[in-house]
Amino acid sequence: MFIAFEGPDGSGKSTQLAHLAEHLRNAGHEVVAVREPGGTPAGELIRAILLGEGGDIALDPRADALLFNASRAQLVAEVIRPALARGAVVLADRFAASTLAYQGYGSGLPLVELRAMIAFATGGLTPDLTLLFDLPADAGLARKSGDGRTRFEEGFDTAFHERVAAGFRALAAEEPDHWHTFNAGEAPERLAHEVAGVVDAALTRRS
Ligand code: TYD
Repeated sequence: MFIAFEGPDGSGKSTQLAHLAEHLRNAGHEVVAVREPGGTPAGELIRAILLGEGGDIALDPRADALLFNASRAQLVAEVIRPALARGAVVLADRFAASTLAYQGYGSGLPLVELRAMIAFATGGLTPDLTLLFDLPADAGLARKSGDGRTRFEEGFDTAFHERVAAGFRALAAEEPDHWHTFNAGEAPERLAHEVAGVVDAALTRRS
């Protein structure tokens, strides 16, 4: 089973992913946790370019989209497909929906073109379940401290992040059978409990 964690910056999805990984491992599942961009040696190099870790590198939104998807293609081929093939549960901290939300809704690139690029990069692999941690954009950015901020958090304005958050909601509404939305403003322990409940139910349905 392939589960993606999505949401605006500062939504707490990485914390929730760690909680769920522990919950599933305790239940006896093999869990493979990955993050985007990154998760492979090539992907981590691409991540450094994308997030401006090597200094400020100018990137056009189309270059952003291509680099995110190059990292994704490598991650799918090198880690995700082999893990799914041996029956592991794969938890991804961001996946293709982030490209649609950030480069599509946020930067204004045509969704139809991005969807074609994503299909090419992933070979058509889509998550069985996407968990959206929804939070008003300003609340998410306020949670991130100065040092931990990426190029997307520093260089893009609040209106951009509001379009991203609205984009995620639109994507969730399009595919209600494959998405589940959580209120990321809730207490982390309570949220972890709700996430575990939703995923346990989905795993039971599949077995
Ligand atoms: P990261 O430090 O991983 O942030 P987070 O903890 O919020 O996931 O940085 C990833 C940044 O890249 C984040 O601002 C979202 C952005 N992003 C895109 O713009 N497009 C994409 O396809 C992906 C995967 C991420």
